[in-house]
Amino acid sequence: MTAIIARPLAPRASSIFNFTFAVLVAICILATFTYAAPAPIVLTGADRRPATSLNGEWASIVDPYFNGLFSFHHEEKKNGFFMNYKAKPGDPFPTEYDFSKAPKLKVPGDWNTQRESLMYYEGPIWYEKDFTYEPKPHTHVFLHVGAANYHSWFWVNGQKVCEHEGGYTAFNCEVTQAIHSGDNFVVAAVDNTRREDNGPTLQPDWWNYGGLTREVSLIELPESFIDQYDLHLSRSEEGIIEGWVHVAGAQPGAKAEVEIPDLHAKTTADIGADGRARLHFNVQGLERWTPETPKLYNVKIAAGDDHIDELMGFRTIETGGTDILLNGKPIFLRGVAIHAEAPYRTGRAYSDKDAETLLGWAKELGCNYVRLAHYPHDETMLRAADRMGLLVWSENPVYWALQFDNPKVLAKAEQQLDEEINTSRNHPAIILWSMANETPNTAARTQFIETLATRARGLDPSRLITAALLVRAQGNTKIVDDPLGEALDVIGINEYIGWYEGHPESADTTQWQIAYQKPLIVSEFGAGAKAGLHGGENERWTEEYEANVYRHQLPMLNKISQLRGMSPWCLMDFRSPNRPLVGIQDEFNRKGLISDQGQKKAAFYVLQKAYKDKTVGKPD
Ligand code: GCU
Repeated sequence: MTAIIARPLAPRASSIFNFTFAVLVAICILATFTYAAPAPIVLTGADRRPATSLNGEWASIVDPYFNGLFSFHHEEKKNGFFMNYKAKPGDPFPTEYDFSKAPKLKVPGDWNTQRESLMYYEGPIWYEKDFTYEPKPHTHVFLHVGAANYHSWFWVNGQKVCEHEGGYTAFNCEVTQAIHSGDNFVVAAVDNTRREDNGPTLQPDWWNYGGLTREVSLIELPESFIDQYDLHLSRSEEGIIEGWVHVAGAQPGAKAEVEIPDLHAKTTADIGADGRARLHFNVQGLERWTPETPKLYNVKIAAGDDHIDELMGFRTIETGGTDILLNGKPIFLRGVAIHAEAPYRTGRAYSDKDAETLLGWAKELGCNYVRLAHYPHDETMLRAADRMGLLVWSENPVYWALQFDNPKVLAKAEQQLDEEINTSRNHPAIILWSMANETPNTAARTQFIETLATRARGLDPSRLITAALLVRAQGNTKIVDDPLGEALDVIGINEYIGWYEGHPESADTTQWQIAYQKPLIVSEFGAGAKAGLHGGENERWTEEYEANVYRHQLPMLNKISQLRGMSPWCLMDFRSPNRPLVGIQDEFNRKGLISDQGQKKAAFYVLQKAYKDKTVGKPD
């Protein structure tokens, strides 16, 4: 339609055109006034809900100029690709797209590794899927999206159901109004264009994998339903589980019930005017969750017609002076940092197999902890960490330089933080919420992240708040005094002695000055090595060089009195456009202890030995 206006028309077509145009405008105005898409909601434990999967092949249209959504005057179209319009003979206007003939993309999955032509593609891509559905009366139907990188729009049967920004957190769009019995279709537009006011922003050191990168499904819920809940062991009262269950659309006088059959524990609580039922109940004989004994319990949560069967473990985490206390006992976090890069096939990780392979390697390394960087990883990974007994550092994607003085950017970071915490708050594995990574020491930055830290503490007072800070140097003294440290429970620091600065041996003469009497985790250190490349231990890019850096790092770090953990950078090589060195990096960050094809490098064994022999950190 847009094109017709721009170009002069043949006289014969004008009268038909005016009539059709008038009808179309009427429909659009009607649609606009009758329906504004509600904001998506966060559902805790959505992956524990029975669901109709929409995973599989979706039709796809690559639309670099976003012509499918925006008119030539860049106004949002009323009859864009989301209408999934099928051209009919005699139409007085051309239809210049057809999903039924379009190539497919798999969901879940990034588009970059599915089609060579899309490896570098950044921009909008349209997805379409037909499905049949029989909605039941008195129910809500939600379109659950595990993640869509970065900005995404969703329509069901041509009706807009939601819009979302943020590439690494789950969201749920209410489609009850739009879905009908029988044949339906869903259209999504996903745009992974990097923008200055996004989070993360322009230059992340990882591949900006675009698309519907995690599972998509339909979840059906009763009229009043449990949308969020939090259950955790009290830090102050032995044998007490506390928390809450929030019920959307709760009827006055309604109750929520929590049962842990294996512990013969059951409790009910009134749902308050705010929809929350507050819980505080005693349990006997609970086996606490630890990395060595990752005990999980079936937990039945019910309210009205709704119920959810959760699988949770119970433990406490807190600090005591410079110690991190798991279940009241000091613990040393022997870890490694991990990107959500799929082993072997590469691309965004999403499957159980991806999670088990990555975390299996971490266990083999002797880890009891992993830093999941630099964005919230998916529930599949977190469930595997619960099961396999790995403590988790989970991070909000506030990475390097953001527009810290832009309130819109703060609102996006707050939204992503809310989604991260409200989705994943019941994983015993998660002990640390990280607010940021390697941000510049400016007043705007400090204020921005202090706001996030306060928000996180308000949302979840049962966990520890951290961030990965940069350190400054005076001669061969490293100084940790970033003012942001004040707002943190646990200090994370990144340092690359022996790689970005100095030589492996430089670590031997490095002193540390820490301004905070708090537990400290070295959240990153490491060196690049091409798997299979061998040479002298001072020859960069060889396995020997990487191993040499580790051999000098570990004793140096052991000199830091409040060192309570480490997560070297990183477990596995991962794709990054910032790494163009041909024959060595080939667009992979090669600081993995394992290559993307599963080859263990010499440094893997150096760290494995130190973790197995517990020669790093204070013994547990
Ligand atoms: C940084 C950053 C990582 C990056 C790493 C590197 O510290 O946090 O995202 O990949 O260094 O340079 O390899």
